[in-house]
Amino acid sequence: MFDNARRTHTCGELRPLDVGRRVVLQGWAQNARDMGGVVFINMRDRHGIIQVVADERCPDAVRQAAAGVHLEYVVEVEGTVALRASANPKLATGLVEVVAASVTILSRTPALPFSIEGHISANEDLRLQYRYLELRRPELQKNLIMRHRASLAVRRYLDSEGFVEVETPILTKATPEGARDYLVPSRVHAGQWYALPQSPQIFKQILMVAGMDRYFQIVKCFRDEDLRADRQPEFTQIDIEVSFATRALVMELATNLVRTVWKEMLDHDVGELPVISYTEAISRFGVDSPDTRFGMEHSDVTAQLRATEFGVVRGPLDAGGIAKVFVVKGGGASVSRKQLDAWTLFVRTYKLGGLLYGKVGSPWTGPLAKLSEAEQSAIIAASGAIDGDLVLLGAGTYAAVNAGLGKLRAAVAKELGLVPPGFSFVWVVDFPSFELDEESGRWMAVHHPFTSPRPEHIALMGTGREGEMFADAYDLVCNGYEIGGGSIRIHDPDVQSKVFAALGMTPEDAEQKFGFLLDALRHGAPPHGGLAFGFDRMAMLLCGTDNIREVIAFPKTASAQDLMSGAPSPVDPKQLRELHVRNTE
Ligand code: AMO
Repeated sequence: MFDNARRTHTCGELRPLDVGRRVVLQGWAQNARDMGGVVFINMRDRHGIIQVVADERCPDAVRQAAAGVHLEYVVEVEGTVALRASANPKLATGLVEVVAASVTILSRTPALPFSIEGHISANEDLRLQYRYLELRRPELQKNLIMRHRASLAVRRYLDSEGFVEVETPILTKATPEGARDYLVPSRVHAGQWYALPQSPQIFKQILMVAGMDRYFQIVKCFRDEDLRADRQPEFTQIDIEVSFATRALVMELATNLVRTVWKEMLDHDVGELPVISYTEAISRFGVDSPDTRFGMEHSDVTAQLRATEFGVVRGPLDAGGIAKVFVVKGGGASVSRKQLDAWTLFVRTYKLGGLLYGKVGSPWTGPLAKLSEAEQSAIIAASGAIDGDLVLLGAGTYAAVNAGLGKLRAAVAKELGLVPPGFSFVWVVDFPSFELDEESGRWMAVHHPFTSPRPEHIALMGTGREGEMFADAYDLVCNGYEIGGGSIRIHDPDVQSKVFAALGMTPEDAEQKFGFLLDALRHGAPPHGGLAFGFDRMAMLLCGTDNIREVIAFPKTASAQDLMSGAPSPVDPKQLRELHVRNTE
């Protein structure tokens, strides 16, 4: 603290050793109680809480001033540290109090829309509107401080590994990475637009062409996409790129970054990180970002049920679909009909027709009782279910069964309290290069179009067998969250052009959209690769929350609004005219 500050101490630091010391504190009145002439004020700042008392030891004027302090007023108290008559073990300062010699109100407030202390029952919209009040809560302050410390740890680690932080433009050209762009009209160039970067992907690759070797940046990215509990329209990446990199090198650097951050922040040893293939992830968990803290793995029972007479299962299988199950141990007794109905609705949102269940016993009960005994035994053999377990079965298209049962596995584990605390990391590698977009019938890049196919698959491009190609890509998953992803890049301009063609772009299209990248690749591009961590998601895990808004100071709502500032908002028509833009609404 500066010597010339009036404040001598924070509200969190006074201890019995300070008894007798004259102090000046400034902070918020967390509560103020006037007990018939004796006034207690709990003063709070981000460092803690301390009790201030104005009693018979204080002049009348001081007691009166203290009695004028209301909830969340900002006050300055000068006084002397004394031992408390009755200690408060809940406070770090709980053995002492400050006997006021003067109480000055620095700032007032009307009654608050919700209380800062204790459990907040106010709805989230109200809390976001008054974000500065919510941010006074110690829980959120702790999160912001954790985030700050994590970013320092990241910078220290990357610096020690020879990385250089380079800033890249925010006003840039649209370089799609799968989401919709946020666009900014140009005033100077009528009818032309900048895009906010979905990530610095192309710029970091061009920095490799420029010889920057090891780049990183903690950087804002912007994506106009549907929001979820772990997604914001503007979010922060730890963006990394390395020249002359192998996949193993990038994965090792990223693993060590995570290892360093978890050790420094939580004193947690992440251990060795397992690596599984995309195919294995889908087969065992239904999703490519599995939560591996608990079992309930999927078993494919397509072959076992191929000839079943149970129509609800047979229909999808005859149509080329698959059937998978997973088991809730002991769930036969504990899971209610109501829960099963809710889970059925849940899987329907993933385009799965429904959910079939059976309670294992002799005989089975529930819809799966309609399977033959041989089919039930085959399910038991495949899944390891025993008497009393609940078997959940999905039959439908490959995509719907995996997505529906994959998401259900995580939801059921959470609902039934089967998720142990702690962290479980896993690398997922060998993603397909392309997936077919059902609406347009076109190939889409699973990662982004700059991802290198595995070298042995490059020849498949343009043969119609693009669906069989695997990418040199990797994602890092923790507790079911994709916290990072990256790849070895294409550094050969001809291969890059072929990928653009495979994605349905004409050469002119590719030149118009990505000409500057192709040009750079033609000027001596080193082999390179990298990845980006979602820093907000990392912070969520470090802070132990599953709501991304709790680790962002000023987050947006699920409909991308900032309720505090009121963004987005209409602008002056004059501004629009200057930008050559007209409102059609
Ligand atoms: P990707 O699109 O996988 O890769 O993004 C990298 C990581 O960023 C996080 N993330 C998000 N976090 C919050 N809100 C969002 N809307 C959001 N979108 C993504 C995820 C994700 O793993 N340029 C590539 C990286 C590379 O190839 O090097 C990229 O952006 O944790």
